[in-house]
Parts: sequence; structure tokens; C-alpha cells
Amino acid sequence: MDNVCKRPMDIVKNIMSVIEELNHLKDVDTILDRVLFEARHLTRADAGSIFLIQDGQLRFSYVHNDTLFGNNGVNKHVYTDFTVPINDKSIVGYAALTGKTLVIDDAYELDKNLPYSFNRSFDEESGYATRSILTIPLKTLRGAAVGVLQLINARDEEGVVRPFNEDDLKYAPFFANHASVAIERGIMTRELILRMMKMAEMRDPSETGAHVMRVGSYTAELYHKIAQKLGLEEHEIRRTKDLIRLAAMLHDVGKVGIPDAILKKPGRLDKEEFATIQWHTVFGGALFVNTTSELDSLCLDIALHHHERWDGNGYPGVLNDDLARVERLCIQNLAGEDIPLPARICALADVYDALGSVRSYKNAWPEERILALVREERGRHFDPQVVDTFFEIYDTIQAIKSKYQERK
Ligand code: C2E
Ligand code: SIN
Ligand code: SIN
Ligand code: FE
Ligand code: FE
Repeated sequence: MDNVCKRPMDIVKNIMSVIEELNHLKDVDTILDRVLFEARHLTRADAGSIFLIQDGQLRFSYVHNDTLFGNNGVNKHVYTDFTVPINDKSIVGYAALTGKTLVIDDAYELDKNLPYSFNRSFDEESGYATRSILTIPLKTLRGAAVGVLQLINARDEEGVVRPFNEDDLKYAPFFANHASVAIERGIMTRELILRMMKMAEMRDPSETGAHVMRVGSYTAELYHKIAQKLGLEEHEIRRTKDLIRLAAMLHDVGKVGIPDAILKKPGRLDKEEFATIQWHTVFGGALFVNTTSELDSLCLDIALHHHERWDGNGYPGVLNDDLARVERLCIQNLAGEDIPLPARICALADVYDALGSVRSYKNAWPEERILALVREERGRHFDPQVVDTFFEIYDTIQAIKSKYQERK
């Protein structure tokens, strides 16, 4: 929507419809992506980022920059990880501390008497030229601070950078207030899932929330790229990606049904124990079998089928017996494209991550050895298309891996 040629009522209506859409999104990353896109659109800002408050600090959580990265989907910069203290020394820190919106016409001509200064390191590293900045604290309608939205380099119709104007100041904070509610809800959903996973995986001290975040993000970004290649519409891709990230985070939730003696065994499993552990796919799938939402059906596909192999030799296809019927899951051995795409993607994400991690029964493999296995299993364990895409977005995969490390 373009402020200049639209009437105020139209702009407000448009904002309201975006807010309505935000309320249907579930995962916080997708919400941030949409909020940034819309806030930039409202103000014609070339770039922007969102910082979320976490453990008393501002954690850099999302970024767009049309000039530097464009806007064609998979963006490794989104996984950049740093924090800024909440104090009056930085622009975003000051906004979070005081709850004030800051309008800066030229980042390089800040009044020397101001407590905060502009951090030039991003410009210096990237060659980007920041000029105008609009920094808005993200507060929910009941006043809870969620983070800070920063919009950079508003542009006029010709694309020339201009200061943020009165209209920007009217609409962007209004939008930000409503967006904060959606963001807060997205954070709560993610935390709920991480807590569920803790039940399932923190029983095994080597499995953590970081594994869940990585597998969710690998799966989401691989899906994004593959869906683009399949020619799906960007808007649709982003919506599905949102659900797939959550579903992939829950891939091993069925491990709650596996006895500790097997799950935590410090060594190789025997044949019978391994047959038992394979039930985690069926237990996981059973949690989502009665439900009707698209999220539930993706959770079912991924939990049940993430150990299928492209060549058909995976599981749970081999476990066709009474218990499966009790759980009302129709289990057949799937191969190739009969395996749901999100499960084929999650299969690679999970194995790539498991091999790089310490387990009660194995050490972490070096990266080269893992990549060799991934190549070797192309067309055997893994869908060839998924393997090819993995190597195409390998820089994003690495950015995710370094963002979500085990914190001891
Ligand atoms: P996980 O540890 O998350 O591993 C997920 C998948 O990564 C495995 O699925 C397997 O495909 C791959 N993977 C992990 N480690 C290795 C490895 O050292 N070599 C190779 N070639 N692939 C590896 P899988 O085999 O179906 O196992 C499912 C789950 O069963 C594992 O999840 C783990 O929780 C458990 N598990 C499997 N084998 C053993 C074992 O020997 N001892 C113990 N204690 N648990 C095991
Ligand atoms: C930063 O990028 O470190 C903080 C951004 C700012 O306050 O200018
Ligand atoms: C960054 O990518 O370092 C943040 C840019 C900014 O908002 O200062
Ligand atoms: Fe699994
Ligand atoms: Fe796993």
C-alpha cells in the first residue's frame, strides 16, 4: 500500500487486513517476516530488522535488506545471531529502555548530546549506506515490551532515500502495536513446543532444544527452496513453511513413549531394542491422527514418516502389526514420491543433524564425513532433489547450525 495516493481509511483497512492475516500465522519467524515486509511496505523502507527481548537483552531476530540481499526467499542473514543490551547507548537499546519511537533523518549526523550513537559496524562490513532510521518499540496493547522494530532508508517514488515522514509516524507505530500481539503469541507457541520437546528429549541429556530448532529450520528453508523450484506462489510457500517448521520441530515427539532404558542406552541397540525405538514414529503420528487442521496433518506426515527412505527400506513400514491398528494408523512401507515431501525433507535434516551431534551411543562426526554420507545416500536414503537443494542452500544451513548451538 502506498501512502501517497491512498486515503487514510484505505490505509487503515489495509493494515487491519494484514493484522487479521498475522493472527493466522503460528510460528514466530514467519510472523516476523510478514511484520517486517508490511512495515517496510507502509513506509517504503529499503531495509529493516526486528530485535526481540530475551533474557533481559535485545536479540537480533529478523532482517530484510532489499539492496543487499533482495527479497527472494531463503535468506541466511536471518540467522545472524547477536544481542544488544537494553540501555541508552544504542538506538535500539534506547527505544526498548524508554518505550519511545525514534526518528532519525541521518544516522551519520546525530546530535552529539544524545546518549546513544549509531553503530556503524554493519555499514562498514556490508558497504550499506544507512541514512534515515525509524525505530519503534514493540509493545502489546496491554503494554508488555516484546522488542524493537527498526526501519531503514525510507524512499520516495523515485526510490531516492528520504527521511521518514508524518504519515509513516502515524501508521507504522499503529501497525507495530497490533503486530506485537501476534509476535507475543508466536513466541508462546514456540515455547510451548520447546517444552513438549523437553519432555520428550531432555530425558536424553544429549538431545536438546537446539536440535529441535535446527531440524525445524533446516526443514523450513529446504522446503522454501524446493517449493520455489516447483513454481509455487511465494505467499503460499511462506504460509506452508510456517507450519512445516513447527511440524519438523515435533518430529521425534513420539520418543516420549520409549522407555529410558532404551532411549538412553550408552551403546549400540540390539535388534529388539531397535525395533522398539522405531515405534516412536507411530507414537508421534498417533498424537495427530484425530485432527483436521493443516498443521496437524503436517505433524502426522513428519512424525510418522521421517524415517522412511527414498529406496523404500525405511520404517515404520516394516512394523505392520496390531498396535498400529490400535493407533488407527494405516502403515505401509512408502518409497519415493509416495513419502510426503515434508517428511522426505525432514529425513535429511534429522540425519544431517544427528550425525553432527554427540549421542549417548556415538560421537559427533566431522562435517566432511557427514557431507560424504549425504552425497552417498542421494537416491538411496534421501530424495535426490532434497540432497541437491541442501547443497544449493548450504550457506543458510551453516548459518542455522551456528545460530542454534548447544548452550551448556
Ligand atoms: P537420532 O539419534 O536422532 O538419529 C536419527 C537418525 O540419524 C538415525 O535414525 C540414523 O538414520 C541417523 N544416524 C544417527 N547416528 C548415526 C550413525 O552413527 N551412523 C549412521 N549411518 N546414521 C546415524 P535411526 O537409525 O532410525 O535411529 C532412530 C533413533 O533411534 C535415533 O535418533 C536414536 O535415538 C536411536 N538409536 C538408533 N541407534 C541407536 C543406538 O545404537 N544406540 C542408542 N542408544 N540409540 C540408538
Ligand atoms: C546494532 O546493530 O548493533 C544496533 C543497531 C543500532 O542501534 O544502531
Ligand atoms: C545488522 O544486520 O547488523 C543490523 C542492522 C541494523 O539494524 O542496525
Ligand atoms: Fe526420529
Ligand atoms: Fe531427531
